[in-house]
Amino acid sequence: MPNPLPVPPVLHDRGVIARYRKYLPVTDATPVVSLNEGSTPLIHATKLSALVGGGRQVFVKYEGLNPTCSFKDRGMTLAISKAAEEGAKAVICASTGNTSASAAAYAVRAGMRCLVLLPAGKISMGKLAQAVVYGADIVAIDGNFDDALDLVREIGSRDGFAVVNSINPFRIEGQKTASFEIVDELGDAPAVHCLPVGNAGNITAYWKGYKEYHAEAKSTLLPKMWGAQAEGSAPIVRGEVVKSPDTVATAIRIGNPASWDGANEALASSDGHIRALSDEAILTAQAWLAANEGIFVEPASAASIGCLMAAVDEGMVEKLPEGVNIVCTVTGHGLKDIDTAMHHAGGGKVLEAKATAESVLNVLGMAH
Ligand code: F0G
Repeated sequence: MPNPLPVPPVLHDRGVIARYRKYLPVTDATPVVSLNEGSTPLIHATKLSALVGGGRQVFVKYEGLNPTCSFKDRGMTLAISKAAEEGAKAVICASTGNTSASAAAYAVRAGMRCLVLLPAGKISMGKLAQAVVYGADIVAIDGNFDDALDLVREIGSRDGFAVVNSINPFRIEGQKTASFEIVDELGDAPAVHCLPVGNAGNITAYWKGYKEYHAEAKSTLLPKMWGAQAEGSAPIVRGEVVKSPDTVATAIRIGNPASWDGANEALASSDGHIRALSDEAILTAQAWLAANEGIFVEPASAASIGCLMAAVDEGMVEKLPEGVNIVCTVTGHGLKDIDTAMHHAGGGKVLEAKATAESVLNVLGMAH
């Protein structure tokens, strides 16, 4: 058999650097480390649109369909590519789980060592499993995410290490591509964009992306940025550092966000809003989204849906013009944290039957 024609790798690469190179700080000297991240579905949410009312259309940006199942991959392709360009041999990050999964995967592709610092006992199993199988060096510390990030700043200042948390500006640059995709698909920016806020890198990145596209006249609108934190971890809402943050949404269990200023800027310039949601409201939104729209996301991600629901209840949505578009980003896949989902579902309802049609129909109450 003849050999297949050699295909230049770039033809296969549909990742965010390949697609949005013009807007990113890369040159021909940047080796592109990619897993074809991005291009995630923007799903029209029919039931959520009906709930919102006034002909307003709600779209869910399903970031759980990135290669490591969270939005972090958009920023990681850039952070790791730039680290490779600069000759880094190892990367380091603090994480509530998703950053470490993403860093570990992209580090493998770049041939780098990956060190991750995690808050002991506060990482979901799915995320830990990812870092383990990608082969990261994992250290669980007896502190929270904020403590881990302090350590990363200290250790990361040594030679040869690149820090790939969102304090690395390349992470923000990569993550802003989600806004580009939304505008490209809707033909304009939405009137409102809802998203969960933890370390506040993502709200900073989205706002940057929307502003850049607007400046290029790719959109006529700039959205209001609506953020949501968990009640037990809501430093930005409260306006002060939370020393011992706590929430079931472990991804956003952060008491001192690194991009606090970026979040404040996005909220102020977009005429936005940030609220705190109870764990119960977050879990209810997670279950509602799965059962009504067929979209399963991890608890932190559901905060964007809970945010919109709370805004409906408070009459904030009614004040928006009729017929406008609203986008909610759901940041991570539901399979990342099945323990929390199953616990909230009371263990799940699984019927038992003998391996006969009669028995199956019987337990279903469908036997004649
Ligand atoms: N949603 C998920 C699923 C996350 O993993 C995170 C952050 C956020 C939302 C909040 O985004 O920090 O940019 O405001 N996870 C980080 C991590 C902290 O280590 O994986 P943010």
